[in-house]
Amino acid sequence: MELILDTADAAAVRELSDCFAVSGVTTNPTIITRSGKTPEEVARQMIKVLHPHQKFFMQVIATDTQGILADAHAIKALQVADGPEMCVKIPVTPEGYKAMKTLSTEKMTVLATAIYSADQGFMAALNGVQYLAPYVNRMDNYGDGVREVSDLLSMLAKAGLTTKVCAASFKNVRQIHELIKEGIDAVT
Ligand code: E4P
Repeated sequence: MELILDTADAAAVRELSDCFAVSGVTTNPTIITRSGKTPEEVARQMIKVLHPHQKFFMQVIATDTQGILADAHAIKALQVADGPEMCVKIPVTPEGYKAMKTLSTEKMTVLATAIYSADQGFMAALNGVQYLAPYVNRMDNYGDGVREVSDLLSMLAKAGLTTKVCAASFKNVRQIHELIKEGIDAVT
């Protein structure tokens, strides 16, 4: 299982990586804005503290397919030889789904994000992304987030899809604990 940190704080990543087996870092536009740093600054700092066996996921900002593709290529272009693998997060909007289909033919790790239901995640998996990020706590706000993610895991297994589920948006350790028991691939 992959343990991923959802943060723009490179010092925290360095500290926690010394203690735990950290597989990588995710960020999103809100986390970056709250950090008071620019996306470029965050990328520079994360690339410095992460290693080649780790992944760094950055989210596209554009909302139209062409813009999303341009953002994805710009994120991938930040890749350096001795740095982490640069990966791209794309929200599951209609324009995002189109971009995922296009990028599935390129050598790029894509994570479909802002997933609020098992079905939304399943459709992104069919479009060829490598990771799915269902928002557990936000789903818990109106239902059972853990159950929905558990359904997604079963649907992928039944369909023979190897897409990894990186559960996100946690507000307590119980949610993480329950999903590890369900065999989750990654948590952030
Ligand atoms: C996932 O990658 C997101 O950054 C994050 O987990 C969203 O969580 P929130 O519900 O706390 O915004």
